[in-house]
Amino acid sequence: MKVPYHKKGYKGKQIHSSASLFEPKNNHMKHSNIALLLMICPKAISAFLQAPQASVSHARPLASSLQMAADEFAFKVTSAAEKFSGSPVNVDMNTYNLNLEEAADEWTATLVAASATKPDGVYLEPRSNALVFCDLETFTIKRKTGEGLGIELLELAGGRNDGVGITVVSGFVEGGVSESVGLIPGDSIIKMAVVAGQFLEKDIAEINLECCNWDKTVELIGSLPAVNTNDETERLQVTVKRLRKKPRVRVTVQQEDDTTKTLQLFAGENLRRAMLVQGVKLDDKLAKAYKDGDGMGDCGSDGSCGLCTVAVTEGIELLNEPESDERKLLKGKDKYRLSCRSIVGYGMKEGSIKVTLNPDK
Ligand code: FES
Repeated sequence: MKVPYHKKGYKGKQIHSSASLFEPKNNHMKHSNIALLLMICPKAISAFLQAPQASVSHARPLASSLQMAADEFAFKVTSAAEKFSGSPVNVDMNTYNLNLEEAADEWTATLVAASATKPDGVYLEPRSNALVFCDLETFTIKRKTGEGLGIELLELAGGRNDGVGITVVSGFVEGGVSESVGLIPGDSIIKMAVVAGQFLEKDIAEINLECCNWDKTVELIGSLPAVNTNDETERLQVTVKRLRKKPRVRVTVQQEDDTTKTLQLFAGENLRRAMLVQGVKLDDKLAKAYKDGDGMGDCGSDGSCGLCTVAVTEGIELLNEPESDERKLLKGKDKYRLSCRSIVGYGMKEGSIKVTLNPDK
């Protein structure tokens, strides 16, 4: 079920006001003012985001190797990009980032009932699931005594008494500790953790910020423990949800009757299956078998019958590498591929591919 909300644009403009969940009557001005304040006076925000400082006077430096390990350790969160593509990601996924304005239009809060995989709650998701996906990124920040996080936050939706809302990063204080860690405007912080140890394995404190309004976000960040100057390994790990467009692959199919058909696919799709679903007539026994409903060819799509062969005349580098059984079957025909074994945009690559059907007929 979608949670309706009142959304404030990052220019302080009302974009959408569909219901009362995010819009108690007496809170309009407060949140408009926050959005405005964030645009006009970003430094004020870093002051809000400054955690209380520890009163420790005997800082004890650790071995430099320990410090390096902590600095270089990357907190691993399974990438949604990997799940989406079904393969390792071979491109810089930042190529597909949405900018702040696009992200502000896309973020929405969804009320989810409890399931086997996650508890009930309000989760942040993109509106256009067909074109955009939500990725996870985690960044490690070295906190400094006397310095705030230097992150500017913008409330897109709020006004509720229970703290539910949508808050995103909108900028950074120049020279601040967060400026160059990899966060970008449009990210929404869903978790912060204070961690320590050689491999940042010690979880000292953790807060969940998913779908919090600006006030709740700032309140929770302020509740994190002060910088421990006795522990040089201590870091802040910031996990964000980031919106990225799904990489697309344009496939031009040269058919046997010399006509062409153009298909718009997403990276990660199986070429043969996509062609059949979009009405390309492979005119072989396998296509018939697919239409009969089992989704498989005579050979079970295991790369042995060869009846789904195509010649790839452009963009072969956008396909996965053939495995040994496919190489054997198509020996000496470098540009040929079994479409049942071909994944377009493998590794989340975007681009264009041209194929010719039944090339040896
Ligand atoms: S369906 Fe048999 S090789 Fe592709």
